[in-house]
Amino acid sequence: MPLYSHIKEDFSLHSFNTFHIDAVARYFTEVDNIETLKELISSGQLDDKPLLIVGGGSNLLFTGNFKGIVVHLINKGIEIISRSDDSVIVKASAGENWHEFVTYCVKQGFGGIENLSLIPGNVGSCPIQNIGAYGVEVKDTILSVDAVDLHTGELLNFSNKECRFGYRDSIFKRDLKGKFAVCSVTFQLKLNPVVQLEYGAITQELSEMGIENPTIADVSKAVCSIRHSKLPDPKMLGNAGSFFKNPTVDEKFAEKLAETFPKLVSYPLGKEKVKLAAGWLIEQCGWKGFRDGDAGVHEKQSLVLVNYGNATGSNILTLAHRIQNSVYERFGVKLEMEVNVI
Ligand code: FAD
Ligand code: EPU
Repeated sequence: MPLYSHIKEDFSLHSFNTFHIDAVARYFTEVDNIETLKELISSGQLDDKPLLIVGGGSNLLFTGNFKGIVVHLINKGIEIISRSDDSVIVKASAGENWHEFVTYCVKQGFGGIENLSLIPGNVGSCPIQNIGAYGVEVKDTILSVDAVDLHTGELLNFSNKECRFGYRDSIFKRDLKGKFAVCSVTFQLKLNPVVQLEYGAITQELSEMGIENPTIADVSKAVCSIRHSKLPDPKMLGNAGSFFKNPTVDEKFAEKLAETFPKLVSYPLGKEKVKLAAGWLIEQCGWKGFRDGDAGVHEKQSLVLVNYGNATGSNILTLAHRIQNSVYERFGVKLEMEVNVI
C-alpha cells in the first residue's frame, strides 16, 4: 500500500507522552492544517488501522506499541471573532499550546480561563475531558467546537450543549470517541472579568502574595504557584496529572462512610450526590510516595502516578489496578481512570 508522503514508520512516541513511556507507533504523521487532514482521510491511509489523535500527550498511557497511525495535530492560530461591551469571542486552533493560549488571553484582559493556567496539553484536547481546576471547568467558556469526522472528512460544528460536557467528560470521550478530530475551539470570554476565588488555596496564595484586589493576571500567577508546589513537572518526572477521577457517590453512602472515617474529604454536589477526594482515599490506603521499580505514586499528591525513568505502561497500569483494588476493599468505592489507556 503506498504511504501518504509525510507518514513516518516505527516512530518513537517517547517525547509525545508526558509519562515518557517508550512506545513506538507503527505509523506517525503531523498535520498542521485542516485541508491536509481532509486529504489524509480521503487518501484512505487512515482506513483499516487503529487511529489515535495526539496533542500534548499529557493524558495518555501507552501500554504497548501502537499498531496503527498516530496523527499529531499541530495546526496553529488564534482569531478574535467579535467583541461586545462585555465579552469577546475567540477561536483557537487545536495545535495551540493550552497554557500559551491562557497567557495570551490573560494579557489581553480576556477573563474566564485564568484558573486553568499551566494545565499541560493543547487547545484541541481541552473539550475532550472538559479540563478543570481550581473551581473552573473549561465548558463554561466554550461556545462551540469544530471537528472533522475522521471517516468522511466532513467539518462539523458542535454547540456547547451538543458536546455534552460533564466532570472530566464530553461526547468526544463517549459516543464519538475516536471518531472526530477537534480542529478548533471557540470561547466566549469576559472583558470585565470577575475573578473566581471559590477555591480556598487561591485566596490563601493571593494573601501570601500580598494582593488584596486581584486581577485575572494575579489569579493566573497564584494558580501557577500552587501547581508548581503540588504537582510534578512532567519534564522532570513522567506523569499525566490525576490518574483517577474524584468519585461521585450518594450522599447517604458518604455519610455512612464518614461514621467510620470521620476525616473523609468530600464536597457536596447537590441532588443528593457527593464528590470524594480520591487522593485522600488513596493516601489512607498507604500508597502516597509508594514505589515499585520505576512506577510510583507521587509523594505530595496520591492521585498522580509517576514514572521514575524506565517504567513501562504496563507497570503503571498494574500499579493503578492495585490502587483501585485496595481503595475498593477499604472504602467500597470504585475509582475510575481519568487517563486514556492505550
Ligand atoms: P493528549 O494527551 O494528547 O490526548 C488526550 C485525549 O484526547 C486522547 O484520547 C486523545 O486521543 C484525545 N485528543 C487529543 N487531541 C485531540 C483532538 N484534537 N481531537 C480529538 N481528540 C483529541 N487535566 C485537567 O483537567 N485539570 C488539571 O488540572 C490537569 N492537570 C494536569 C497536570 C499535569 C502535570 C499533567 C501531566 C496533566 C494534567 N491534566 C489536567 C491532564 C491533561 O493536561 C489534560 O487532559 C489535557 O487536556 C490533555 O491535553 P493533551 O493535548 O496533552 O491531550
Ligand atoms: N488529598 C489528600 N491526599 C493526597 C491528595 C489529596 O488527602 O495525596 C486531599 C486533600 O484533602 C485535598 C483534597 O484531597 O484538600 C483535594 O486535593 P487537591 O486540591 O490537590 O485536588 P484533587 O481533587 O486531588 C483535582 C483535579 C486536578 C486539579 C485539582 C485542582 C481531578 C481528578 N483532579 O485534584 O486535576 O488540578 O483538583 O483543582 O479532578 C487532572 O485532572 O489531571 C488534575 C491534576
